Amino acid sequence: MTARYLFLCLPLLLLVGCSQKPESKSVKQLDNYRDWAIYRGDQKANQFSELDQINASNVARLEPAWMINTGDASRGSAMQTNPIIIDDVFYMVTPAGRVLALDGATGEQYWEFDPRTPEQKNSGYSVINRGVAYWADGDEQRIFHSTGSSLYAIDAQTGKLVGTFAESGALDLRKNLGMDPEFVSCKMTSPVAVFEDYLILGTSVSEGFGASPGHIRAYSARTGEFRWIFHTIPKKGEFGHDTWEWVEGESYGGANAWGGLTIDEKRGWVFGATGSPTYDFYGANRKGKGLFGNCVLALDARTGERQWHFQTVHHDIWDMDNPPAPILVELEIDNEPREAVVQMTKMGHLFVLDRGTGEPIFPVEERPVAASDIPGEEAWPTQPFPVKPPPLVRQGFAEDDFNDTTPEAYAAAAKMAEGYSGGPIFTPPSLRGHVIVPGMSGGMEWHGASFDPSNGMLYVNVNESSNLMRLSPVTTLVDDEGLSEYDKGKLLYQLNCSACHGLQLQGAPPVVPALALTDKPDGELINTIEEGRGAMPSFNNFSNEELSGIVSYLRNPSEEPLDVSGRETRTVYLLQGYNRFEDENWIPGTKPPWGSLAAVDLNAGTIMWTTTLGEYPELVKRGIRNTGTRNFGGSVATAGGLIFVAATFDEKLRAFDTATGKILWEYQLPYGGYATPSVYAIDGRQYVAICSGGGPKVGTPSGDAVLVFALPEE
Ligand code: HEC
Repeated sequence: MTARYLFLCLPLLLLVGCSQKPESKSVKQLDNYRDWAIYRGDQKANQFSELDQINASNVARLEPAWMINTGDASRGSAMQTNPIIIDDVFYMVTPAGRVLALDGATGEQYWEFDPRTPEQKNSGYSVINRGVAYWADGDEQRIFHSTGSSLYAIDAQTGKLVGTFAESGALDLRKNLGMDPEFVSCKMTSPVAVFEDYLILGTSVSEGFGASPGHIRAYSARTGEFRWIFHTIPKKGEFGHDTWEWVEGESYGGANAWGGLTIDEKRGWVFGATGSPTYDFYGANRKGKGLFGNCVLALDARTGERQWHFQTVHHDIWDMDNPPAPILVELEIDNEPREAVVQMTKMGHLFVLDRGTGEPIFPVEERPVAASDIPGEEAWPTQPFPVKPPPLVRQGFAEDDFNDTTPEAYAAAAKMAEGYSGGPIFTPPSLRGHVIVPGMSGGMEWHGASFDPSNGMLYVNVNESSNLMRLSPVTTLVDDEGLSEYDKGKLLYQLNCSACHGLQLQGAPPVVPALALTDKPDGELINTIEEGRGAMPSFNNFSNEELSGIVSYLRNPSEEPLDVSGRETRTVYLLQGYNRFEDENWIPGTKPPWGSLAAVDLNAGTIMWTTTLGEYPELVKRGIRNTGTRNFGGSVATAGGLIFVAATFDEKLRAFDTATGKILWEYQLPYGGYATPSVYAIDGRQYVAICSGGGPKVGTPSGDAVLVFALPEE
C-alpha cells in the first residue's frame, strides 16, 4: 500500500514542495486488533494488538525508529494523547492542543491544525487532551478534535476545517444542553466516539457548585446537526428523577462521562461511565442515590435511549468518578461464552457486568458503610463491593500503613497526617479529616487497561494514591444581590475554585498553583478563568462583573467573614484542598507499593500475578527498590506476549512478559510517558509509539517528545 502511495506522492512533492498524503480509497474497518485507528485501540477500548513481530524473544533489541519534539510544551503542560494511525498517517495532539498529521514510518509532518488564539499562543496555553477521532465516508475523511468548548471537523487530507460542518467547521459544545449556552462551561478531554455517522460525546465540567450537567449527546458527523441527548441528571418525568431530593433554586451539574465512550457495533449501543454529581465532596443539597452519577450506562447509539445502568458509587462524596469508558470484552464463564463490560474504578474495584443487561457476572454485595457527621449530609448507608475480582489496591488507612521504608520516612508521614484519622474505604469526609486511600487519583484512572481476547486476561496498572481529606464550613448567601463586587468574587471563589486552589489560596503545588500574591495581569487571570488551562476547567459562565470581583478577591484575599447581617445565609462544607499525602519529593506517606501492574483473569475473576510499576530514582540511590510509583497512562498488550506501559515517575517505557509479569525491556524516555502507547504496522514493520510529555499530575518536568520504537532493520 505505502509503496503505491509513495509513487503517487512523489510528483506532488516535487511540484508543490510539501508532502501531502493522497486520498485513501478504503473506508477503514475500525473494529479490529491490527490497526490503531481509534483512541485506546478499537471501539471496545481493548488496548490490544495482534501484531507479534516484536515479541518476548526480541523485544530487548527494540530501539527508537523516529522521534519528534512538538515545540509547544509549557510550565505544567501534559501530553495524554494516544495517537491514532490511519492509512499510515499518525494523528496526535500536542501539549498546546494542536493536531499534527505525521508519516507513521518517519515522523515527517504532513500538516498541523492550530486552534489557538493569538493570546493563547503567547501565554503558554496548554490542554488536557487524550486524542482525536476519525470518520470517513467514501472520499470524505475527517479528524474530529476538541479544545476549549469547540469540537472541530478537520479534513484528514489537508488539515483544514471542513466548512460545511456546524459553524464553519466548529461545533459549540455549550449549545443543545437545554440551557442558555452563556451559563454552560464544558470541554472534552477524551475524543468523541464515532458510530455510523453519529458523533457521540461526553464532557469534562468543573466540579464546583456551579458546574454544568454532563449530559451525553450525539451529533451528525457530516453536518454537526444535533441528534439526541441523554440526561445524566434526569429531568422531571424521566427515569431516575426520583433518586434525587431536589432543592428548589439549586442547579445541578457533573455526572459526566469525561473518560470517553465505547461502542458495541453489533448492538448499536454506546457505553459510558459517569463521574460524581457536583459539588464533589458535600451533597446535602443533592441527597439520594443521584442517578446517573457514577454509573455505567448502556445507550442506544442512534437514539440515546437507555438500555441499562449500573451505579458503582451511591451518592458520591469522595470524587470517585468512573475514570475510563467501559471496556467491552468477550469472556468464557463456567464454559459459557459471555459478552461483558468491565468498569474500572478509582476505588480499585473492577465491576464485570453482562453486556446485554448490566447484571453483575460475579456477585456484587451492598455492604454497610459509615454515616456522615457533617450537618445536612446523608451518606448513602451501603456501597457496592464486587466479590470478584479482588480489589487491585489497598482500601482504607490505619496507623500501621504509614510509609515504613525508613524511620525518617515513617516519622515524616506521621507528622503530615497529624490530627487526621484513618478509616476504611467510603469513610465520609469530615471536619476532623482523614487519610483517604485510595485517594482522588485512584485506584484506576482514565487510561483504561489492556485485554487479551485470546485468554480473557486484563492487564491493569493502578495507583496506590492517598490524600488528606478535610472539610471546612463556609457561610455563603442564598442570594448575592446587592453585595459588593469584591464580596461576590469571594463567594464565587469559595464555591468554584477553593476545592482545588484551597480556601487560603494556597493551592496544592506543583499540581495546582497557589493564587495568593499572583503577579499575573488581570487580562491573563480572566483568560485563564474563562478558558481553563491544563487540568483546570473552564469557567465561561461568569459575567464581567463576577470576573472582576474574583480578580479583586485574588489580588487582596481577606479572611474576614462576610457581613451577612439581615441576609439569608447558608453554610456549605468545602474541601480544604486536593492535598496529597506526599512529601515535597513526591514520596507518599503510605507504605509501598505505590503503583503496580496486575494480570487479572476475567474468566475466573482472579489475579494471576501482580508486580510493582516504577521506582523513585531518589529512593533507588538509597537502595529502596521496587516500590512502584504514581502512574498515569495505559498499557497495551500484544500477541507477541508483551505489555507495553510507561506511566511512571521514573519516566521509562517498559515491556513486561504477559505470562510472568517480568520486565523484558525498558527505555529511559526524555519525559514521563503519561499516555497510552499505540501499536501499529506500516509496510510489514511493527511500531510502538508513546507521547512523552511529563507533567505535574505525576510530578516530573513537562515536555513535548513523541517516540516511536521498532526492531532494527535487517
Ligand atoms: C479542578 C481543579 C481546579 C479548579 C476548580 C480551579 N482551578 Fe485554577 N488551576 C488549576 C490547575 C491545575 C492550574 C494549573 C494549570 C496549568 O498551568 O497547567 C490552575 C491555574 C490557575 C491560574 C493560573 C495561575 C498561574 O500561576 O499561572 C489561575 C489564575 C486560576 N487557576 C484561577 C482559578 C479560579 C479563579 C478558579 C475558580 C473560578 C479556579 N482556578 C478553579 C486547577 C483548578
